[in-house]
Amino acid sequence: MSLRAPKGVGLAWQPENPALLGRAGSVASAKASSSSKSRGALFRVKGGVARHSMDFPHKNKEMDSCSSQDREDVSSKRSTTSPCLPGIIYPPTTTVGKSTNIFWQECMVKKQDREAMLGQKGCVVWITGLSASGKSTLACALDHALLSRGKLSYVLDGDNLRHGLNNNLGFSAEDRAENIRRVGEVAKLFADAGLICIASFISPYRKDRDSCRQLLPAGDFIEVYLKVPLSVCEKRDPKGLYKLARAGKIKGFTGIDDPYEEPHNCEIVMEIDDGAVPTPSEMADTVISFLEQEGYLPAKQNSNNCSGVHTNIDCEG
Ligand code: ADX
Repeated sequence: MSLRAPKGVGLAWQPENPALLGRAGSVASAKASSSSKSRGALFRVKGGVARHSMDFPHKNKEMDSCSSQDREDVSSKRSTTSPCLPGIIYPPTTTVGKSTNIFWQECMVKKQDREAMLGQKGCVVWITGLSASGKSTLACALDHALLSRGKLSYVLDGDNLRHGLNNNLGFSAEDRAENIRRVGEVAKLFADAGLICIASFISPYRKDRDSCRQLLPAGDFIEVYLKVPLSVCEKRDPKGLYKLARAGKIKGFTGIDDPYEEPHNCEIVMEIDDGAVPTPSEMADTVISFLEQEGYLPAKQNSNNCSGVHTNIDCEG
């Protein structure tokens, strides 16, 4: 498998993102800077509001340029590879949250290259609902059904992530928000990797779920609401947590003494009452039908995985 330079770029490949030039300690040309500006918005959120520009996905955050103090620091202390030498155009430094002087690193291999190799489109299937509504069951059934179709997925599960990445978080509204924020960011990376990322979290607050949706290109966040009445979840109570919550031994339990905000406009609602409950594979099939309909599971066209999606990767043989 060989890599071609992106279209419109000569043999001496120049990164379209000037941040790359800064990384290499090279001098950024004015041409490189202006071409990156002309790329325009790549992603749009529901309602058509532009969010990210292609070359600087975090450009919408606070952007810094070199301050005079920086220039003094450079001339007195730093080496010539420092980003603030007079007369040389360097990529803009960015401040994101508490991270200062950071640069966006762009690689040659793009999401669409990975998608072409995998024969699928990366996205996030976000399953929300009360504890014991069947989120994990659906997540695992969907994961399995996708695998059996030759599609790559990965499950992010609330209980599991709280064993590691999120083990410093509890169940206050703030901690749940941080839980969901981190998961949203991880899910976005998985989708960028070309996977069908299946996230299974109570995620009780609409605002937190919507923030995760905003992280992805329009259409790539598929919210599935398992609408199961509290009485049914409580009757199931597979972990005995509802019993403990009713006895006052667990405080702030979702549905008992903590809120759950139903989605307003989610892609799929699975309404389940006390009557006939669909099997896990029936529920998984509902999601798969949606994914097929929306073009996330295109048929692989040939054995070398070049499925007709535009790619920088040469398909030989
Ligand atoms: S979320 O609200 O922050 O999205 P998450 O999905 O990660 O929750 O974790 C939910 C799991 O934590 C439940 O399946 C349950 O096993 C456990 N849990 C423990 N305490 C609570 C609580 N107070 N409310 C809800 N779930 C709880």
